Amino acid sequence: MSIGTSDDRSPDGDVFHPTPDLVARANVPVWEAEAGHARQDLTGYWAKRAQELEWYHPWDQVLDESNKPFYKWFVGGKVNIVHNCLDRYTKTWRRNKLALIWEGEAGDHRTFSYHALNREVCKFASVLKALGTVKGDRVTIYLPRIPELIIAMLACAKIGAIHSVVYGGFSVEALHGRIMDSHSKLAITADGGWLNGKIVRLKDMMDEALQRSPTVEHVIVVKRTAQEVTMEPERDLWYHDLMSLPIASPKCETEVMDAEDPLYILYTSGTTGKPKAVLHTHGGYMVGIYATLRDAFDLKEDDRWWCTADPGWVTGHSYLVYGPLLNGATSFFYEGAATYPYPNRWWQMIERYGINIFYTAPTAIRGLMRFGEAWPNRHDLTSLRLLGSVGEPINPEAWKWYHRVIGKGRAPIIDTWWQTETGMFLITPTPVVPLKPGSATRPYFGVTADILNEEGQSVADGEEGYLVITSPWPAMLRTIYGDADRYVKQYWSKYPGKYLTGDSAKRDKDGYYWVIGRVDDVIKVSGYRLGTAEIESALVSHPAVAEAAAIGLPHEVKGTAIHTFVILRTGHNPSDALKEELRAHVGHEVGPIAKPEEITFVDKLPKTRSGKIMRRVLKARAQGLSEGDITTLED
Ligand code: WTA
Repeated sequence: MSIGTSDDRSPDGDVFHPTPDLVARANVPVWEAEAGHARQDLTGYWAKRAQELEWYHPWDQVLDESNKPFYKWFVGGKVNIVHNCLDRYTKTWRRNKLALIWEGEAGDHRTFSYHALNREVCKFASVLKALGTVKGDRVTIYLPRIPELIIAMLACAKIGAIHSVVYGGFSVEALHGRIMDSHSKLAITADGGWLNGKIVRLKDMMDEALQRSPTVEHVIVVKRTAQEVTMEPERDLWYHDLMSLPIASPKCETEVMDAEDPLYILYTSGTTGKPKAVLHTHGGYMVGIYATLRDAFDLKEDDRWWCTADPGWVTGHSYLVYGPLLNGATSFFYEGAATYPYPNRWWQMIERYGINIFYTAPTAIRGLMRFGEAWPNRHDLTSLRLLGSVGEPINPEAWKWYHRVIGKGRAPIIDTWWQTETGMFLITPTPVVPLKPGSATRPYFGVTADILNEEGQSVADGEEGYLVITSPWPAMLRTIYGDADRYVKQYWSKYPGKYLTGDSAKRDKDGYYWVIGRVDDVIKVSGYRLGTAEIESALVSHPAVAEAAAIGLPHEVKGTAIHTFVILRTGHNPSDALKEELRAHVGHEVGPIAKPEEITFVDKLPKTRSGKIMRRVLKARAQGLSEGDITTLED
């Protein structure tokens, strides 16, 4: 069986139509009518969607374009996303509905009604306030996939603090950089987390990162694994101790925020240099993720939703934490590995909890396909009505397996294209739209996209070009925190007035978009977004390395894998032991996901005359392809 990721997607290939039964039951807008409304009256359309939520005070202006590209949405509106995620339900029957069902890797579980979740959030918000956290403060959250992660995020938002969640799979250097850049005074972590039956020692990494992060005054530590950790007196406080003190009052007012006040920052890899903090707001972001999740996945009152993403990435922020709560849904959250203890873990939980909508990444599907159909076939998966995909293009083999084996040929696959920066789905079908495997279909209501050549002209159907977004949308990033110039330069400069996605794509005759992949120095490894610069700087921070270059090459399961080329300093010799040491070093600096698949020792790297590494040439050589135009090559 082939599960390769070769790009054999064909616009004229199979088209999957939703079953009449599904169409009859779907409660989603008629595409043409809704898209037409949004096209004719963009601000009227988004005002209508915003009115589906509660505001403390209505906005004066839906969209302020007076200082492009610093767009503002719902200007003058007063709101707090947590009011719409929790507060507004506490006086309705929904207080008794399950908001969250959680299962730990060892099989332990916890559930939270909307009432219970709100109570925990209020208590923790009171604790944050008692520790001196105020509106606008940045709080770094570095936790495993446990309910306290969601509680911490919501508690920050409730009091107007800006959360900065660092993925628990990142390590010391990545964590240190993010704490420093955000000037966090408070950090929240755990003694450890469970993954693959082993403990990930988060507190140790936090301790190491904090040796060089003077801004942090307090660390709140959740006890998850109960192993020994060092608690620094005065600085480190146990979560459970704080939550049992009178300061943890269940009465806590939600801060009234401006629609444009920051909700969170999230670091992501860009074209050059260190990861940058993408900033999202309370108002527009809330409206965008509420509406997209509602329409793309037709969430129903009695649905159980499962997004497998880690909350440390944008998919977790938008569609695990905030989106489902904004829609009053019940969501499922799992701590551990998909294959622990056996490759049927996910399928078993879909059956046990009766999951109706399942949203995951192509790399996970490819990984689980390898174990064969017998594993999912042991389980009753008939509760599934819809499936989702995100993070990278889904290859047709994986699409068809997912559709046939998991969705039993009935559940449509909602392939959602979007980014950390976009906050919400920008290209996505709804459940009633005909699907073509490997295409995320068409831009969502109110979203206008284009595909341009170098000169900025739209390319013909079927031709590849730069994917751009040509009109603003409410959940768009507002800036890069602390680096507004970079915001303008990275996203709005190549084609002034148009948002540059960094992806290349094609459009077919039906207007369907086929995203091909990144055209910049970003690599999507198993759906995780990393930058060549992070991997290279981790390598050169090792005493044996003089220079390094990283590229992404196709990989059966990961989609793309990291390959690196290393020039050693004099006095160091290539060896397998050194390769292993360098891989471990990258794991320690950035995180296990960044460990190179392959390290090749070389004497020279192809460079331009100005000294820039030509990764394109390395990539072509590694794949035995033509090196293209190399007239700018140094020698
Ligand atoms: C890629 C993840 C094809 C794309 C939400 C984008 C996709 C990058 C899809 C953003 C999809 C995401 N089809 N490619 N459905 N979804 N991508 O910021 O290259 O981690 O630019 O956000 O993932 O990655 P990020």
